[in-house]
Amino acid sequence: MIQKIFETPFELAEQFAEDFEKSCEESISKNGSVNIALSGGNTPKLFFEVLSKKYLNKFDWNIMSFYWVDERCVPAESAESNFGEAERILFSNISTKKNIHLINGANNPENEAVRYSDWIKKNLPAKNNFPVFDLLLLGMGEDGHTASIFPDQMNLMNSKKVCEVAIHPVSGQKRITLTGRVINNATRIFFLVTGKGKAEVVKGIFNKENDYKKYPAAHISPNNGQLEWYFDSEAAGLLSKVKRET
Ligand code: 6PG
Repeated sequence: MIQKIFETPFELAEQFAEDFEKSCEESISKNGSVNIALSGGNTPKLFFEVLSKKYLNKFDWNIMSFYWVDERCVPAESAESNFGEAERILFSNISTKKNIHLINGANNPENEAVRYSDWIKKNLPAKNNFPVFDLLLLGMGEDGHTASIFPDQMNLMNSKKVCEVAIHPVSGQKRITLTGRVINNATRIFFLVTGKGKAEVVKGIFNKENDYKKYPAAHISPNNGQLEWYFDSEAAGLLSKVKRET
């Protein structure tokens, strides 16, 4: 497990964009394509902005397929939509659209979870009876949730389904999320974690203390793949002796 710390979220986004490009190239040279699952929330937005500003001409977007780790059950026009934000910041600047496989947050949640599960199973290779993403980006909430797997819904970590309907424990908002088995089946998992509010959870997970198993993020451990954590200095503020990325 690789841990990298950057002074600021922007430096993290810049370096991650570089690593992301290399990871895509590796997948493409091996498989001729790359299947990527994106997370939502705020952290990835800086990364999308870097791609939008500096990488539009560096990728053959036609052989890259984008999916979502999770989606809020809201229309794409909503500022809360994970697809909507990625579309506004990045994909609206890319001419090819055929490889964007969004979760439709406006659909009936239960029906969309089934539709998206079937769509992923149809379009991705499988290993251990679960679909395999080449690259999978995760964030982490201040309660240790990841994707839309919240501490009070840990059953979603071991669900036999590809996607499930989750409920945000505070807002009650319905969400559709990849389950833990699909996430851990990915070849490369990248955790992008920034902000002081996450430092305690990060410390708990890495020091295996404070009942850390209650955090869904603590259960992300790829079966055969690689896990890399990207922190800004605030999120890693309570960690000691972690490899610092200059
Ligand atoms: C979502 C995400 C979620 C997110 C964390 C961190 O739909 O919100 O998938 O898991 O990654 O909540 O969000 P921030 O990046 O905004 O801190």
